[in-house]
Amino acid sequence: MKPFSQAAENNKGPILDVLRDYLTAPGDLLEIGAGTGQHAVWLAPHFPQVLWTPTELPENLDGLSQWLADAPSDNLAEPLALDVEGDWPAQAYRYIFTANTFHIVSRPQVELCIRRVCETLLPDGRFLVYGPFNYHGTYTSDSNREFDLSLKARDIAMGIRDQEWVVERFAEHGRELIHDHAMPANNRILVFG
Ligand SMILES: C[S@@+](CC[C@H](N)C(=O)[O-])C[C@H]1O[C@@H](n2cnc3c(N)ncnc32)[C@H](O)[C@@H]1O
Repeated sequence: MKPFSQAAENNKGPILDVLRDYLTAPGDLLEIGAGTGQHAVWLAPHFPQVLWTPTELPENLDGLSQWLADAPSDNLAEPLALDVEGDWPAQAYRYIFTANTFHIVSRPQVELCIRRVCETLLPDGRFLVYGPFNYHGTYTSDSNREFDLSLKARDIAMGIRDQEWVVERFAEHGRELIHDHAMPANNRILVFG
């Protein structure tokens, strides 16, 4: 059966509203950890000037491919297998987007992901990450605290990252935070350039 994420259905509209401000120039977009593909199939048709390539861990590509097959779009490319710890595409991308991955992969994997994003992004490109973040080591809501504890009970390497820590990691590669958007349900979109 096709995988389904209710969260992706709930947040795709607010994510679209923010992406409209950034995905303005024509270019290629790489999506990391695309999950079911619900974001890709819904968002890509709103940006015909952008060629959207979703990626996932090899073991999760089947579900993603089912969503893409059911909702093909001219600007939606074949999904690629991508583990942030493995090989990344050799080409440069104008946009890299990821949703709800920085609290799933471990801190070293987030650091590696940020390094690879900075290597893969065009000099004037944009990286957008959606998800929950802490500020100055503090949860932004009780629900985020409960969510973080449930993640750590599942896998101690998981957890909500500090926004400042993420910003510092990007700064190490010469990239800066352009905007930090508040999103529904205590989530954020951080935009780096
Ligand atoms: C919470 S899901 C988010 C899926 C989708 N982006 C969304 O917002 O609905 C996290 C995703 O990260 C992927 N993931 C986990 N470890 C990864 C890794 N090392 N490299 C790339 N993706 C990974 C998982 O397969 C999963 O689909």
